[in-house]
Amino acid sequence: MFDFLKPKPKTAIPTFAPLGIDIHCHLLPGVDDGSKSNEESVACMKVMRDAGFEGIVCTPHYQYPRFPNEEPDILRRFDNLKLDLASINAPGIPQLKGVAGEYRVDSGFARRIQQNQFLLVGGNYLLTEFSLHQQVIGLDQVMFDLQMKNYEVILAHPERYPYYSSSSSKLQHLKDMGVYFQVNILSLIGFYGEGPKHKAFEMIEKGWVEFLGTDMHNTLYAQALIDATHDRKVIKLMEKHTFLNSQVQNQQPLKTNKI
Ligand SMILES: [Fe+2]
Repeated sequence: MFDFLKPKPKTAIPTFAPLGIDIHCHLLPGVDDGSKSNEESVACMKVMRDAGFEGIVCTPHYQYPRFPNEEPDILRRFDNLKLDLASINAPGIPQLKGVAGEYRVDSGFARRIQQNQFLLVGGNYLLTEFSLHQQVIGLDQVMFDLQMKNYEVILAHPERYPYYSSSSSKLQHLKDMGVYFQVNILSLIGFYGEGPKHKAFEMIEKGWVEFLGTDMHNTLYAQALIDATHDRKVIKLMEKHTFLNSQVQNQQPLKTNKI
């Protein structure tokens, strides 16, 4: 009762320490709709460290034509970010474990499969996303082609696609095809609305969710992450369920396929 009268928590607690690393965030500055500067990235990273993450993998969007990122440029920017952070001596941030991508399955995706043009979050794990507005045409073939090349496909935030909201059979079909699911932590506190929140809990309870991610973009998300670390339902969920985030790290070193 009178929740709005309670003061907002100012700092995070390490609720997400069991995850170890975050495999989904947009903290490589200036390349997509995520962080705009090193300072903003550092502010977000400090919150993530307080929330329990010891390491992060940066996963900028690759999406035509909105974010026409290409891997060589992203790798160069990532190296620069690491140098910058070392030179400004930013204490209390997670380790930068690597840079990968959140690859939109769009018109440019077939070319990427053909040329193995992906940066992976670890091992053979490839983080993908779909349009929020329309289903991918020919998705089964895309997944088959990826699996033929031994990619372990992770779908980012399946709880957020409205065309999967009313029925679980399409999501069940993806699980049957061997697709891993990564739910956004912020979905669990209703950051994207009640529908994704409900779906996120439902899928985790079904045992369909292998990974949690922050999908951190900016300090607004960081503030929401602080709230999530104090949320009783989220704390309970973290006590009850195990996720595979740290296993991505323990596999082969992060690798780059042919670029
Ligand atoms: Fe994302």
